[in-house]
Amino acid sequence: MTTHEDLALHRFRRIVFFTGAGLSAECGLPTYRGKGGIWGSYDWQDYACQRAFDRDPEKVWEFHDERRRRMGAVEPSQAHRIIAEVQRRVAGTKIVTQNIDGLHQRAGATDVSELHGSVWRIRCDCPPRAVENREVPIGARRCPACGTWRRPDIVWFEDPMQPAPIEAAIAAISECDLLISIGTSGVVFPAADLPRLAVQRGALCVEVNPEETPVSDWYSVHVRGPASASLAGFWPELDAARESAAGAGD
Ligand code: OAD
Repeated sequence: MTTHEDLALHRFRRIVFFTGAGLSAECGLPTYRGKGGIWGSYDWQDYACQRAFDRDPEKVWEFHDERRRRMGAVEPSQAHRIIAEVQRRVAGTKIVTQNIDGLHQRAGATDVSELHGSVWRIRCDCPPRAVENREVPIGARRCPACGTWRRPDIVWFEDPMQPAPIEAAIAAISECDLLISIGTSGVVFPAADLPRLAVQRGALCVEVNPEETPVSDWYSVHVRGPASASLAGFWPELDAARESAAGAGD
């Protein structure tokens, strides 16, 4: 069992937060698996692969428009804010996320490797390929230049990973001294495999998840609780500092 002192920030120079849908569940967004999970109600073969998009782009866009609407309507959680605060205090902190909702950035975090892309970008084959777009519902679904359907810039099932975020993630995880995995089921590869690099390096590896996962054995510390309460327990001074700073400006 890790004590508050074990995770004291002055002990670490390179921290990686490896995050998944459970982190955003506390904002009111559904996870993918488990009770209420998206893939329990929607078949990814109809909504989340290039084949589905080629077959019926309108249907796939309706699904993603609704996801954009929900993701845009929620606020980052206490856990998102604590992660951003850790990053402000420990310069070598990086975030590797499987989430596509942009909530880390909205909480003030920088240096976020989005392994599965972002629902807030769209792309076609024209340069510059991916562009930011926050319209809900998306307006011009066809590219005005090439006329083809623009798709969400996210990694659907059967898609290749995007090289830039995965390379950044490998670099960050290979040299970290603390890795904290939060809210991921650890079943979607190759993303799920990345924390193993931190284990091999001998970093302190902590899993925050109310449930055990197939990769729990990799971690030397397991915190079986929800994200925000767990992180606030690790660093109670961080949220208190943030709240008093916000209060000072009132
Ligand atoms: P999953 O839905 O597979 O898993 C969510 C995890 O969050 C589960 O292990 C839950 O136990 C845990 N969880 C739930 N509530 C939590 C809380 N309050 N605090 C901490 N943990 C909590 O989500 P991911 O592992 O992120 O791909 O899924 C990986 C990928 O599969 C996603 O990126 C997505 C999906 O297909 C794309 O969007 C491209």
